[in-house]
Amino acid sequence: MGNESSTSVDEATRPITLYARSIEAVAQYIQEKDIKNIVVMTGAGISTSAGIPDFRSPDTGLYANLARLKLPYAEAVFDISYFRNNPYPFYTLAHELYPGKYRPTVTHSFISLLHKKGRLLKLFTQNIDCLEREAGVPGDKIVEAHGSFATQRCIECKTEFPGDRMKEMIQKKEVPRCIGKTCTGLVKPDIVFFGEALPESFHRNRSLPAKAELVIVMGTSLTVQPFASLPSFVREETPRVLINLERVGSLGSRLDDVLLLGDCDEGVRKFADALGWRDELEELWASTNPNKNKKDAYEAPPKTRQERLDEEIEKLTKDIDATLKVTAEANERIRAELEKSATQKPPPSSNPSTDTPSAPTTSSYFGLSHVYPHLKADKLEKPSL
Ligand code: OAD
Repeated sequence: MGNESSTSVDEATRPITLYARSIEAVAQYIQEKDIKNIVVMTGAGISTSAGIPDFRSPDTGLYANLARLKLPYAEAVFDISYFRNNPYPFYTLAHELYPGKYRPTVTHSFISLLHKKGRLLKLFTQNIDCLEREAGVPGDKIVEAHGSFATQRCIECKTEFPGDRMKEMIQKKEVPRCIGKTCTGLVKPDIVFFGEALPESFHRNRSLPAKAELVIVMGTSLTVQPFASLPSFVREETPRVLINLERVGSLGSRLDDVLLLGDCDEGVRKFADALGWRDELEELWASTNPNKNKKDAYEAPPKTRQERLDEEIEKLTKDIDATLKVTAEANERIRAELEKSATQKPPPSSNPSTDTPSAPTTSSYFGLSHVYPHLKADKLEKPSL
């Protein structure tokens, strides 16, 4: 009797596809079954060891630090209505975060290695730092779900703005305006702001998670929709690996979910060890070092990840604070306008009727049929946050 019940409990908790819920079992699955269709989903956590702050970490995250400043709310720097009235805080941030300043992390190189091994079906990233491309992942393998700094246009007439001039303006901390003859609209990189639609490539590729043979989620809190729902479209028997400081979304709730909770650089190294790819990974990562050929060049002792992040977040908040002081008058006007409009309509993030990035409220989770018309609301998983 006792044996019977323990057998049934074992069966109920035994993975369907993997031999165990471990990274070694995932590695064996990849190699024995020659898995080629791996979908990777990433967020800001894969770039923190490069010195770029994420958004929601309690001390080093951008939003916690911006919350101390005189912004109507921390996310306003990425809000299209706020940008229309005051683009300066965003451009202060853009000056710091503009691609070219940072080196890819070993996690970016791990994704690149998956591609080199012919095993990457698609990378869905929420990041705008372009470090995946720099690590060697080709553009056609990447869905930049929240856009990127690669192109820019006028927010009014949509005229494209030249890349070289954009770079120059950002370096000079100036706000670019439309080059159209009659339009003077603000120019913005094609980064998706709150209140804007996601790129067409996201919609074109959103059925891929359902075709994946393995999914790896790394460095994201899975709080911004519709990206946050992607892991729930993965088939039940398909293994999902989470490499993150904390447990997020519904990851861990399925029999073939494997959690590596901790730093993602450490996690991918463990994964590479299990696959026998560690040397190749380190070699690939070493090739992204801008000083790799300068053997004799003096190199300052490397700063720790925490030191780099602390410095970066302090600089960012200071710069934005200074910008805000300059634009305090404009800010007051916006605050009054926002307060006025808040009494007339719900905030943008709680509006489930548009396909724009939003934090997961119960209504946005269960009102995603506009984003995934092929799925009924009851198929969408509830977040475990
Ligand atoms: P978040 O800041 O929300 O989440 C980052 C996640 O990575 C958290 O769960 C951290 O615990 C984890 N993390 C941080 N450093 C890590 C490390 N070294 N190793 C492992 N895990 C680490 O960032 P995103 O999920 O990317 O959107 O945020 C999603 C979107 O919110 C962004 O694309 C941006 C933002 O508002 C827009 O601007 C539209």
